[in-house]
Amino acid sequence: RLRPLVQSQRTKVRFPRTHGCGHASSSRAREGARDARACFTTPIFYVNAAPHIGHLYSALLADALCRHRRLRGPAAPRFSTGTDEHGLKIQQAAASAGLTPAELCDRVSAQFQQLFREAGISSSDFIRTTEARHRVAVQHFWGVLEARGLLYKGLYEGWYCASDECFLPEAKVTRQPGPSGDSCPVSLESGHPVSWTREENYIFRLSQFREPLRRWLQGSPRAITPEPFHHAALQWLEEELPDLSVSRRSSLLHWGIPVPGDDSQTIYVWLDALVNYLTVIGYPDAEFTSWWPATTHIIGKDILKFHAIYWPALLLGAGLSPPHRICVHSHWTVSGQKMSKSLGNVVDPRTCLDRYTVDGFRYFLLRQGVPSWDCDYYDEKVIKLLDSELADALGGLLNRCTANRINPSGTYPAFCATCFPREPGSTGPSVRAQAEDYALVNAVATLPTQVADHYDNFQIYKALEAVSICVRQTNGFVQRHAPWKLDRESPADAPWLGTVLHVALECLRVFGTLLQPVTPNLADKLLSRLGVSDTERSLEKLFFLPRFYGHPCPFEGRKLGPETGHLFPRLDQSRAWPAKAHRT
Ligand code: MSP
Repeated sequence: RLRPLVQSQRTKVRFPRTHGCGHASSSRAREGARDARACFTTPIFYVNAAPHIGHLYSALLADALCRHRRLRGPAAPRFSTGTDEHGLKIQQAAASAGLTPAELCDRVSAQFQQLFREAGISSSDFIRTTEARHRVAVQHFWGVLEARGLLYKGLYEGWYCASDECFLPEAKVTRQPGPSGDSCPVSLESGHPVSWTREENYIFRLSQFREPLRRWLQGSPRAITPEPFHHAALQWLEEELPDLSVSRRSSLLHWGIPVPGDDSQTIYVWLDALVNYLTVIGYPDAEFTSWWPATTHIIGKDILKFHAIYWPALLLGAGLSPPHRICVHSHWTVSGQKMSKSLGNVVDPRTCLDRYTVDGFRYFLLRQGVPSWDCDYYDEKVIKLLDSELADALGGLLNRCTANRINPSGTYPAFCATCFPREPGSTGPSVRAQAEDYALVNAVATLPTQVADHYDNFQIYKALEAVSICVRQTNGFVQRHAPWKLDRESPADAPWLGTVLHVALECLRVFGTLLQPVTPNLADKLLSRLGVSDTERSLEKLFFLPRFYGHPCPFEGRKLGPETGHLFPRLDQSRAWPAKAHRT
């Protein structure tokens, strides 16, 4: 449907050499250098409606990845989020709310900022696409594409979906009965209404990028995670890849960034929005080159094509490499249905943070959200999960090992290597450790690596599951040795009692350290209770059970923190544990 009116001279597209579009040549050293400079991004959020839990989920995934990266080493990653404020959708939403677009943007952008502050999203930058720095970046980027001969003016005729801000081929449009019974054209994928558009626009030579994109994706099998989304992107390259209209007539779309040198056209909102990832690293100033392409984009599956096809093609067109990584997540539904204003089932994340606490709700979304498939939200599920894993299992474990009755001195007890010798199967009158205890030590010792691997694979839910399994195993260890039955005054029991508590506290120290990216306040409370100082909370400093391995333990004999309250109060009091079980 694209008929070029003025065809500028085609120039051959040159691709950057340095980052090789993911060629196998990437050495460990370069991976290392890339690791040192890392940038995480969330999508920038449309301001046509208030934030919901799906938006918070996108931001939380990025936040947890970034916090985990910070725990790993001294190099501070960058982390950006923000609001996507231009385009027809915003222009129309403002008009129907009786506001100017700028008023709507200010209002809703502030809601996102407040939500993210309250939810502990630790971003280092919040970008608004209406900022001057962004306009400079977008217009510069446009200029580069133009100078490289990748834009031409042409007639675009076809369907446009304002809700999704995208052009659609006929095959992706279907009819649905409208409010008055007439047949309305809608997007096959999203169900949103589409309208017929016929106008002269600037067009990007997307069709030239099929092969370079294929090379990039085939050469970097981990560029898009989880794998089915990588596969989907490659699949798109098997289909038609028409050139892309990248501007709209400004008489129709005035709320946006004007095409440099042609005020009659406004830059397409997706081009505008995607460039935010460069704006936040200082583009077009030279400093941006030390950060690009070390960026990991976290996005929802509905915007995969924009990030996996259009964005890398635009970048290649501008002489830059595709992003280091794109991590894709699926959607939250509510009681089996898509969240939507019209169905009235939108879950307000601020109510959830109030009801379940910040750490509780962060834990729920990240523990239950599985990027590969949609997840269903309902309140009972939150209560059940938080009560069993945070209140009972983790909170109960801490209680059992620090309660005054069992640990009256309020110190980190000593480990006795004779009771728990390094070699499993050792015999002797003082040996008390059993085979399952060695299994526990082994599981917790390898937990940080397991968790790091899960983060690397964008499977935070698996990292949390692994921690939860170890928490259960540690509770089993405590239950098995019933320290409350041991006699503190007996020379035979006392060292073993200390050892059981020492091992359990060491496990808790590992859990607290590893939970910091997901439940930062709860982890702080836990680590403070264990007497772990701020400088002892990184992954580098995490040496589990050093006494078992024959090294000194800096915690032994240390005073426990003074805060003795519940780590995570139960939400469902009616199903609280019987008081007796609580005490043990
Ligand atoms: N503005 C574009 C993104 C531009 S990025 C250069 C946009 N905004 S959005 O507000 O509609 O969506 C932002 C993010 O929220 C997307 O990653 C989207 O997938 C995510 N979610 C929107 N609804 C969702 C659920 N119901 N569940 C989970 N995430 C969902 O798209």
